[in-house]
Amino acid sequence: MSRAWLPLLLTVLLLSGCDIDADQSSLSLASGHLILGSGHGDDGSAWGLTDCAACHPLTLIHRQAPRIRDLVRDKGFDSCTGCHGGNGARQPRRCVLCHNPGDLPTHPLGDGVNGHDFVKPGRDPLADEQCLVCHVASDMNGRFDINRDLTRLADVSGSAVPYASLSDFCLRCHNRDHQQIGFEITGTTSDDPLVAIEDAWRYSDKHGWIDGGGRTYAGLRDPYVYGSRVACTDCHAMHGTQNAGLIIDRSDKGASRLPAVFRQQAWPVVTRNGDFSQLCVLCHAMETPLEQGDVDAGNGLRGVHRMGEDCRPCHRHGEAAQAGM
Ligand code: HEC
Ligand code: HEC
Ligand code: HEC
Ligand code: HEC
Ligand code: HEC
Ligand code: HEC
Ligand code: HEC
Ligand code: HEC
Repeated sequence: MSRAWLPLLLTVLLLSGCDIDADQSSLSLASGHLILGSGHGDDGSAWGLTDCAACHPLTLIHRQAPRIRDLVRDKGFDSCTGCHGGNGARQPRRCVLCHNPGDLPTHPLGDGVNGHDFVKPGRDPLADEQCLVCHVASDMNGRFDINRDLTRLADVSGSAVPYASLSDFCLRCHNRDHQQIGFEITGTTSDDPLVAIEDAWRYSDKHGWIDGGGRTYAGLRDPYVYGSRVACTDCHAMHGTQNAGLIIDRSDKGASRLPAVFRQQAWPVVTRNGDFSQLCVLCHAMETPLEQGDVDAGNGLRGVHRMGEDCRPCHRHGEAAQAGM
């Protein structure tokens, strides 16, 4: 691994953990706040201590938290800091201990060698350090909330204002001029989507902003509609995929707005040499079939054109001249 994680993580923690927690003193499921602060114990007497077992027997805790109780008992004291933070000591915080294919196979769907490991191209399954960059203080209550479960990174003005959308989170790193300390994206050309996406998303990228014009191949699967925005994570998997560029490899890893029964059929997405038809056809389905509009894209779905070709000359991030992406 090429980066020194610890100092970076501490920076992220200081920047964001505190920001989220500043106005919340009580730890509970109801407040969504689980990270211990310097007042832990009687007037802080337990702050900095690492032997949780000495004061908190497993059988007495979490009576109000049935969703996690049994799993915590099962994993024991190695798990505590994952949810409650380091308690003022430099302790590892474990995630994969529970979030693995055996214990929580669908939370998240993490199979596939390419995860968002902050390196391009991704290679290894994600480790605890990487989870923490994006989820520094999740409440793990079974409901994903962008402003609780995602680390609150600084925006262009340097303040950790709440996210308006999931894409907003990505753009706090993927931009040219206000990247996060420790996660700089270097060595790219200025039109590489890694840094250009913030502009592309706002001005020319039709998956990011309302546009219109004549639609030769119109047709979207319900409830996707024209004039709406599509989240980055509808097409890009953060936790694991077989595809390059972190493109989802199954419908249930993205395309979040499709009806659950359809999406969970896990329609496969295989991308080859710039042919993204199996991705596009998850949401696009031509009403009046033109070109190959009525041909199976290879994953059981039909409704897009030019299958087998490289789509990128006409559809890529930032490509405004043609139909965009
Ligand atoms: C020396 C004893 C002691 C140790 C060691 C200790 N705690 Fe505590 N902890 C307490 C006391 C006392 C309280 C406050 C009384 C209570 O709520 O049970 C407390 C409260 C808590 C709370 C609830 C905080 C709140 O605001 O409601 C959590 C969570 C917690 N401890 C987790 C931990 C974890 C995780 C560890 C190990 C890193 C740990 N404790 C180590 C004594 C200890
Ligand atoms: C998966 C997340 C998770 C892990 C791991 C976890 N906790 Fe908790 N803990 C919670 C939640 C959620 C609450 C709040 C429950 C509530 O609202 O009463 C809590 C509350 C507590 C409390 C205070 C209230 C109570 O229920 O007693 C203590 C003490 C505590 N945890 C200690 C621990 C210790 C010690 C460990 C490690 C053995 C641990 N926790 C591991 C999520 C977790
Ligand atoms: C904390 C900063 C940060 C956040 C947040 C972040 N990224 Fe990244 N991302 C990076 C870095 C750093 C790289 C690696 C760039 C490099 O190596 O040049 C990267 C790489 C990528 C890649 C290319 C990976 C590959 O294997 O080709 C994609 C795609 C990507 N990110 C999408 C996203 C999306 C979508 C989101 C939001 C859900 C997101 N990122 C959130 C920092 C971040
Ligand atoms: C680059 C940022 C990033 C990294 C790294 C990351 N996540 Fe996520 N995670 C997200 C985003 C964005 C979402 C919400 C969208 C989605 O579900 O894809 C999410 C959603 C989740 C969910 C809820 C999804 C569900 O279906 O229940 C869990 C659980 C989760 N992440 C756990 C983890 C764990 C564990 C790790 C480390 C192995 C990790 N994440 C690493 C960004 C990240
Ligand atoms: C003791 C096991 C355990 C540990 C350790 C643990 N989690 Fe969780 N986590 C859970 C459970 C259980 C859920 C809720 C799943 C459900 O009920 O749907 C959850 C849910 C989540 C979610 C989904 C959002 C939400 O609010 O439900 C995210 C994100 C997440 N965990 C991230 C992490 C990260 C990051 C770490 C490490 C810092 C971590 N978890 C450590 C058990 C654990
Ligand atoms: C030579 C250029 C070109 C290539 C190559 C190309 N397309 Fe297109 N595509 C277009 C044009 C032009 C439109 C129509 C734009 C409009 O109606 O405004 C379009 C529209 C689309 C639409 C949007 C339909 C809608 O809802 O309006 C999808 C989906 C699509 N193409 C998928 C693909 C896929 C998948 C590939 C590769 C397998 C591909 N295209 C390759 C030119 C191209
Ligand atoms: C409609 C699907 C879709 C949406 C929505 C989408 N992307 Fe992409 N993205 C793609 C495709 C397809 C590629 C080309 C992948 C490749 O070249 O292998 C790509 C490429 C990228 C790359 C370059 C990856 C690399 O390996 O160099 C980055 C970075 C990226 N997207 C980030 C984002 C971010 C951030 C968002 C949200 C603001 C987003 N994307 C929204 C489909 C999408
Ligand atoms: C997750 C669902 C989803 C996926 C996957 C998806 N799209 Fe779309 N696409 C949409 C939605 C929703 C719109 C309408 C957005 C708007 O009006 O700005 C749209 C709009 C478009 C448009 C603009 C149509 C117009 O004239 O307004 C083009 C071109 C397009 N998509 C091409 C693609 C291509 C190429 C792919 C595959 C690489 C793809 N889409 C994958 C949901 C998706």
